[in-house]
Amino acid sequence: MIDCDVGVDDALALILAFHSPELKVEAVTGVNGNVPLEQVFGNIQKVLSLIQPKNRPIIAKGADKPLKGNSVYAHSVHGKDGLGGTQIDLREGEPWWQLFTGRADELITKMARQYPDEMTLIAIGPLTNLALALQRDREGMEKLKAVVIMGGAVRVKGNVTPHAEFNIYSDPLAAKIVLGSELPITLVPLDVTQQIALTPQWMEKRVKPIHNSFSRFIIEVTGYHSPTCQFRNKELIHLHDPLAVGVVIDPSLLSTEKLSIDVETQEGEHYGKISETEEGPKIDVCLGVNTKGFLELFVSRLG
Ligand code: BDR
Ligand code: CA
Repeated sequence: MIDCDVGVDDALALILAFHSPELKVEAVTGVNGNVPLEQVFGNIQKVLSLIQPKNRPIIAKGADKPLKGNSVYAHSVHGKDGLGGTQIDLREGEPWWQLFTGRADELITKMARQYPDEMTLIAIGPLTNLALALQRDREGMEKLKAVVIMGGAVRVKGNVTPHAEFNIYSDPLAAKIVLGSELPITLVPLDVTQQIALTPQWMEKRVKPIHNSFSRFIIEVTGYHSPTCQFRNKELIHLHDPLAVGVVIDPSLLSTEKLSIDVETQEGEHYGKISETEEGPKIDVCLGVNTKGFLELFVSRLG
């Protein structure tokens, strides 16, 4: 099950997940994050139209605002529509998903109960839906096999403020509830995701030659142009969210430490910062990654 806020790198994470035989993606839920919820939900459908998954995952809309505070969007990174203005047709009426009419937190707890100790939840947006799911049915959430979360900056600088990473900063209260929940969590912070990037070299040598709808999509969604113009004048594109999927496909690509993590929910300079603490449940925090190994995995799954 994937909870996301599609988003350029969320879209790439969905492609990686659906193309990986190690995983069976049963559901995709949307949360307010990089762009407003309605746009996220439309983007989930667009990306599924591209992937055309035969198993027809269930999709559901989640929270349209954080538990506390105002929405923060990332249009400057992901474009106005969250997909860099890409032109994918939404094949309406084609059966690539099943619509769940309830809310995402309801679907998450329902699936956790339906597949006890089997279901992994990969969360690659703000943690609002997960916090709501915990409030709705904690016992159900305890039936999850694992929860893998892309978020936070442990021993490196943040990417929204010098201290905070986007997914945690967007809803620190939700993050505090989830990270303190005692669920079997693996955290995939900027410490590792910032070591994974598509560069012009990878685009030229490994992505472009694939010549299929997915390689073309990556070129379009990342705004890749050429080795000189790069990605809309950005040197590289971090694969934050795909790495969280990579952790589930092949955990040997990462090294982890067991840490207790706290989240700053008070407004001020450190709002949304996560820090190591002495108290609280210990979670697995990824602090090392086999960069080349993951990039090889990622491009190999585009074919
Ligand atoms: C995270 O923030 C979002 O903009 C990305 O999709 C990713 O989930 C990285 O900080
Ligand atoms: Ca995301």
